[in-house]
Amino acid sequence: MNIVLLGPPGVGKGTYAGRLSERYGIPHISTGDILREEIKRDSELGRKVKKYVERGELVPDSIIIEVIKERLAADDCRKGFILDGFPRTLNQARALDNIVRVDVVFNFVAPKEVIIERLSGRRICRKCGAIYHIRYKPPKKPGVCDICGGELYQREDDKPEVIERRLEVYKEQTAPLIDYYSKKGLLVDIDASKEVNEVIAQCERILRERGILK
Ligand code: AP5
Repeated sequence: MNIVLLGPPGVGKGTYAGRLSERYGIPHISTGDILREEIKRDSELGRKVKKYVERGELVPDSIIIEVIKERLAADDCRKGFILDGFPRTLNQARALDNIVRVDVVFNFVAPKEVIIERLSGRRICRKCGAIYHIRYKPPKKPGVCDICGGELYQREDDKPEVIERRLEVYKEQTAPLIDYYSKKGLLVDIDASKEVNEVIAQCERILRERGILK
């Protein structure tokens, strides 16, 4: 089950990947999470990519392709994986084709107003990375993670001016992948304006129809 999630920032890729990963026991690989973790650790990689991530720009292909190559070689990817945030350029997509076979690409679609509202209300747990929303998925106690009690914070790149830039970058550099995967017969549009359970149900229907989920 080798799944790629495509869609603009804030459409819900991380949320859906988390659910599918839990249900099917395959890893959720988010390049954004990997990079934020490296920045937090102040590693050599983290120092290299910080300025791009905080400005909402893509990190150079050469860096991210190496990161993903290494991650996909790990033992836990043998049964499959869910890629969230990779590939994001045509170069990255071609590189991925040389590493593994992709079974399906879910292209999550939602109106811009929905996306902006989701991003501006998002909160993340500093400790375990769980994703909340002040309106759609509020924690039981404000500012505190239900799962681990960690502190909830707003991502640096969820500020309004950076959100606009991320949406532009998506349109310029990542949207061409819709055509790329469509031509390969791998792309399926998913209506992500619906509530989370309904979005997951759409994905599972496709996995069954395509014989990916038995
Ligand atoms: P990354 O972390 O990948 O950010 P992104 O693609 O912009 O996606 P987000 O994490 O913002 O959104 P999401 O779609 O996962 O939404 P979420 O589930 O959180 O990348 C960050 C940066 O890293 C990039 O800008 C770049 O610099 C760098 N980078 C990463 N990968 C790279 C690559 N391959 N190449 C180069 N650079 C790279 O949901 C959003 C909110 O909405 C949440 O609050 C959630 O609770 C809520 N929500 C979700 N779904 C629903 C729903 N159906 N109904 C109601 N609320 C919902």
